[in-house]
Amino acid sequence: MKGPRGTQDLLPGVTEKWQYVEEKLKGLSKNYNYQEIRTPIFEHTELFQRGVGDTTDIVQKEMYTFTDKGDRSITLRPEGTASVVRSFVQHKLFGSPNQPVKLFYIGPMFRYERPQQGRMRQFVQYGVEALGSEDPAIDAEVIALAMSAYRELGLKSLKLVLNSLGDNESRNNHRKALIDHFSPVKDELCSDCQTRLEKNPLRILDCKKDRDHEAMATAPSILEFLNDYSRDYFDQVKAYLDAMEIPYVIDKNLVRGLDYYNHTAFEIMSDAAGFGAITTLSGGGRYNGLVQELGGPETPGIGFALSIERLLMALDAENIELPIDQSLDCYVIAFGDETKVKAASILQKLREAGVQADKDYQDKKMKAQFRAADRLKARFVLVLGEEELENNIIAVKNMETGDQENIGLNELISYIKGII
Ligand code: HAM
Repeated sequence: MKGPRGTQDLLPGVTEKWQYVEEKLKGLSKNYNYQEIRTPIFEHTELFQRGVGDTTDIVQKEMYTFTDKGDRSITLRPEGTASVVRSFVQHKLFGSPNQPVKLFYIGPMFRYERPQQGRMRQFVQYGVEALGSEDPAIDAEVIALAMSAYRELGLKSLKLVLNSLGDNESRNNHRKALIDHFSPVKDELCSDCQTRLEKNPLRILDCKKDRDHEAMATAPSILEFLNDYSRDYFDQVKAYLDAMEIPYVIDKNLVRGLDYYNHTAFEIMSDAAGFGAITTLSGGGRYNGLVQELGGPETPGIGFALSIERLLMALDAENIELPIDQSLDCYVIAFGDETKVKAASILQKLREAGVQADKDYQDKKMKAQFRAADRLKARFVLVLGEEELENNIIAVKNMETGDQENIGLNELISYIKGII
């Protein structure tokens, strides 16, 4: 049997990379003072319909939705923001004394997409959400955190793309202009875009099918419709980024694939040669109406998410090796029937003392056991023969230098702890 399309098994050798990256991201969250939140992997379908937006591809085409035995419509989460906001409202975190509420998450997300490199049906997102502040400085903070996630791991070929989607007034004016612009060519657009024209014309700008239609290039840009507040907000975000020395390019066509955004929208792309067709590493933005949409008090919010799959692809594309230690502290070799039980007890004591240790379980010859120790990158091999057992000692071989000395069994643990 094979795993479902668009999923992957992470095997030893690869899981170490994931652990390394996840630890880095958790450390980074701590530096920026974001605390972890864990929400369920499935939610009521309505959450995403209302949160992510009924006209988005995610909700229309990509959700894993099923009816459970209690006849409820349930969906495997396609993203994290809606769940975090649902939880924020449900647990009244808006009443917490520490505002804004700054949260991060790492976990699997599910989208029924056409799988290709960097596009999975189950993928892992790391994301942050800052709820309760409409200070442009926190927009810059979230972007800075997103950039640091890559830079800390050594990535250099990064491009930060920025846009503003404005507030409701700006968006409504832009919406009208888009309807005027696309209506004359409505019949030439794909059937999805014909629906979008009525329901959510902004989505047309994100259409993959109509991307090359000539009306796309001349479509009115949101930036021309920003009112004073929105323009000033955007200017301040840019000023903070400048002050933080975070370079960016403005892309007036960046609209993002989820409906909840307003004001700041951004994506980080990889510029690395050989990265592949999908170059977006992460995306995010501000969503000031979402908390209210999900039943909470009017609360501004901003966040972003990246997938670890694409982050690891970017590391590969830039030939970055993560400094992962795959060595083992000790390998215990016992030869002679009498010694086996003693070896098991030594091994147990080592492990209880916090030493990484292993032994043979396949009755291998001594030479083969040394080879096994080599393969496991053991730093020390502890050899217990009948003679050693009689004298209450054990031979400790340093595999790097080849040096060997006999150590009394009573001092073994403190000796090993001293040298590792
Ligand atoms: P999104 O742009 O849909 O935004 O996804 C964010 C990131 O998740 C993408 O840039 C990409 O790295 C990764 N991603 C998405 N789909 C896949 C896939 N099928 N396979 C692998 N990686 C994928 C959101 O999800 C928003 N919740 C981000 C956000 C948080 N906005 C505000 N707060």
